[in-house]
Amino acid sequence: MNPKQITRIRPLTLADIDAIMQIQSACYPASLLEDAAHLAAKHQQSPASCWVAVHQDEVFAYLLTHPWASDTPPDLNTPLPPAIPNSFIHYIHDLAVHPKAQGLGLARQLLDAALSWSKQQPFTHIRLVAIAGAEPFWLKQGFTPISPLNEKIIRKLSSYGPNTHYLEVSLK
Ligand SMILES: CC(C)(COP(=O)(O)OP(=O)(O)OC[C@H]1O[C@@H](n2cnc3c(N)ncnc32)[C@H](O)[C@@H]1OP(=O)(O)O)[C@@H](O)C(=O)NCCC(=O)NCCS
Repeated sequence: MNPKQITRIRPLTLADIDAIMQIQSACYPASLLEDAAHLAAKHQQSPASCWVAVHQDEVFAYLLTHPWASDTPPDLNTPLPPAIPNSFIHYIHDLAVHPKAQGLGLARQLLDAALSWSKQQPFTHIRLVAIAGAEPFWLKQGFTPISPLNEKIIRKLSSYGPNTHYLEVSLK
């Protein structure tokens, strides 16, 4: 993929789930892979806050986000509880760019879409779990570690693998 070629950011649809599964497999170890049904359900919970980066009809990257109303991150590969109306967090569930398209600014473009959406909602923070190795990327995007962490959060983070970090950016 040539960095000068135009990539479009558009809303993710259920028809993109197969492409997303392929990107997921190319980006993560088997222990972190989520079922298609769970990814689709997360999209269904908040379709307005999920996007893909597309070049010539091929999906190269995706961003799944949803409102969230708890200080503790959601479970991985598990259905979300029903949406709560006054959620205060815009939760980034997953951002992944196919290895052949990394370093071209696609993640940044997807995050810009998320930030624009966030600003129209009553959220106080954007939060996420950075998996092992991804923390430097998120720190560069302006996220900072959430502190202190209670035992429940620490246990939840460890279910995302070793060396995970709970990060946020304030929208105030
Ligand atoms: C992390 C990831 C999403 C970055 O995607 P990308 O499209 O390559 O990132 P971009 O090209 O938009 O880079 C945006 C900026 O972040 C920087 N950056 C990218 N990857 C980085 C990394 N691993 N560490 C630190 N900075 C990084 C870029 O240099 C760029 O900086 P600039 O704005 O000063 O030029 C991608 O590498 C990926 O999908 N990794 C595997 C899945 C993953 O770990 N996802 C995060 C789960 S928490």
